[in-house]
Amino acid sequence: MTVITNIEDLRVLHQKRAPRMFYDYADSGSWTEGTYRSNESEFTKIKFRQRVAINMDHRSIESTMLGLPVSMPVALSPVGMTGMQHADGEILAAMAAKKFGVPFCLSTMSICSMEEVAKRTQHPFWFQLYVMRDKQFVSSLIERAKAVNCSALVLTLDLQILGQRHKDLKNGLSAPPKPTLKNIFNMFMKPAWCIDMLKTKNRQFGNIVGHVKGVDDMSSLGAWTASQFDPTLDWNEVEQIKKQWGGKLILKGILDPEDAKLAVLAGADAIIVSNHGGRQLDGAPSTIEALPAIVDAVGSQVEIWLDSGIRSGQDVIKALALGATGTMIGRSYIYGLGAMGQSGVTKALEIIAKELDLTMAFCGLKDVRQVNKNILFPGSF
Ligand code: GLV
Repeated sequence: MTVITNIEDLRVLHQKRAPRMFYDYADSGSWTEGTYRSNESEFTKIKFRQRVAINMDHRSIESTMLGLPVSMPVALSPVGMTGMQHADGEILAAMAAKKFGVPFCLSTMSICSMEEVAKRTQHPFWFQLYVMRDKQFVSSLIERAKAVNCSALVLTLDLQILGQRHKDLKNGLSAPPKPTLKNIFNMFMKPAWCIDMLKTKNRQFGNIVGHVKGVDDMSSLGAWTASQFDPTLDWNEVEQIKKQWGGKLILKGILDPEDAKLAVLAGADAIIVSNHGGRQLDGAPSTIEALPAIVDAVGSQVEIWLDSGIRSGQDVIKALALGATGTMIGRSYIYGLGAMGQSGVTKALEIIAKELDLTMAFCGLKDVRQVNKNILFPGSF
């Protein structure tokens, strides 16, 4: 039995347990995957200032996100098809987040519907919205999110068109998988995944199928995006969505200071500096490179969270040092989920919390809310 000590261990187990098309979906970026890789590699260039002989007792990594307490400033990002990495994946991840005391965000493109997640977790979560051409459907998604008491709406701004991911096309990605010989063979090789999947009825896009006229077999994300997502989305529509929603609005997919300013004008309560995990515009900067200019532009006006590339608590603290007030993880918890279900998500959160706590201590701080640029080695950022 492998002793799991870091996120990479979970990734390896996820790859072993889940069918290839779903593992590849999680673990890939668009085109050359250059931005996907640089999200991680740019973190490694930043170095810490080690301090010694400072009393390190009684440390705290607790903070707040949107004014509410969190056990650490790390939320679970919305990830499409989470329920295909492990049966009932969204419910399991939301349960793990609830127990750990961090926010969970459900994707529009989830497998378990928002109603199912709400019923099974009995705990508020955030809902991530994609803007579709069918405005009645968008409006109904917002009303459904209100009805199940979602505590914030996360509007994604960087996926009105889809960045091409070669692996998904080659694998013929769909939910549920098409019963081709190749898929059947691959699933037979993953018996634990199949047994769990046979026990659940959540096997297609739960927020969508059965809720949109004429859509009862929309299995592929690519086809769905091309035919349904609205490329005309603009700031006026963002403001209209804010009005209809009426609650906390988080804007996801900001990479440029000018867009950050427009997001503030549109009434965002928080912005997420994100390049969609390197899955959209390949060649865009890593998020840790993009962060400082955005903090300079709007840091005094809005909460700024960083997503994309975080694989350790050390990455979390580097983002905080460069001015983010919170962070979000996608793949880091998906690997845990794909490896071991709910306990794998908990494991991922524990790993990140411990790395965050120890790194903070090595840098001479006892409270994560005091983290700033002083913990970084000059010239390395
Ligand atoms: C959808 O959110 C994706 O990146 O696949």
